Amino acid sequence: MSTPFTSTSPPAGKRARIVAVTSGKGGVGKTFVSANLAAALARLGERVLVLDADLGLANLDVVLNLFPKITLHDVFTGKAQLDDAILPAPGGFSVLLAGSGLVEYSRLTPEVRDKLLEIIETVAPRFDRILIDTGAGISDVVLYAVSLAHEVLVVATPEPTSLTDAYATIKVLATQQQRTSVSLVVNQVSRAGEGRIIRGQLQQVVDRFVTPTMADPSVAVRLDLVGEIPSDIAVREAVQKRQLLLEMFPGSEAAKGVSAVAVRMAAP
Ligand SMILES: Nc1ncnc2c1ncn2[C@@H]1O[C@H](COP(=O)(O)OP(=O)(O)O)[C@@H](O)[C@H]1O
Ligand SMILES: [Mg+2]
Repeated sequence: MSTPFTSTSPPAGKRARIVAVTSGKGGVGKTFVSANLAAALARLGERVLVLDADLGLANLDVVLNLFPKITLHDVFTGKAQLDDAILPAPGGFSVLLAGSGLVEYSRLTPEVRDKLLEIIETVAPRFDRILIDTGAGISDVVLYAVSLAHEVLVVATPEPTSLTDAYATIKVLATQQQRTSVSLVVNQVSRAGEGRIIRGQLQQVVDRFVTPTMADPSVAVRLDLVGEIPSDIAVREAVQKRQLLLEMFPGSEAAKGVSAVAVRMAAP
């Protein structure tokens, strides 16, 4: 499959660092991480845009308590200009929302492909960082959205099902997109240090079974742990209230975990 991504040359002319937030399994915290990481990066002075690329089952709007009049749907159909769909979010960042029920865009048609690429190309010069909140799994829409990013941030939880799905995702990214490094956030850990153990386990499986390039089998895929976020009742409460965790419970352990990921990502 040909994609715009190559490991050595990110799409030309982009200023923003584009990070795809993805996972194997659904419900592991991609949208929670994307929204709160965006807020944390904004606090560090970055101009951040979150693109809701979970086109079929979008819910970034719900998490942020936004009721957008204009969504990506209107941009896709030519009913609205892209600029009018870029909205300010609480937390000091911008969002491009998909809106719920864009079922017709859950398949990768040439139209979806062209529009997503065009949107990214247009907004990239205006931001320091673009977070692409993708759907779960390895559908062609998800893989295409990930292919637009310089960097992949895989969110996984310590659950065995999440880990096997994370492994499957990493394997596909390595073989189809020649990714040689993948960032990992372990969410919903139950004790400090669990993220490091999980990273080690995943790395072992990846080392054993994943070879990104047939041409050079010695090139491995490196998993880079960018942080762990504890399982925290405050997260559920913030989601229930449709508030950012970083605004509602800035002192919570999970908020501290997300902020640490932001600091790590923002460091040169
Ligand atoms: N660190 C955490 N602690 C507790 N609950 C969490 C945590 N992260 C996520 N959750 C719960 O998981 C739910 C699903 O998260 P979400 O970000 O929507 O997942 P995804 O986008 O991967 O499908 C959230 O609504 C929240 O209730
Ligand atoms: Mg989501």
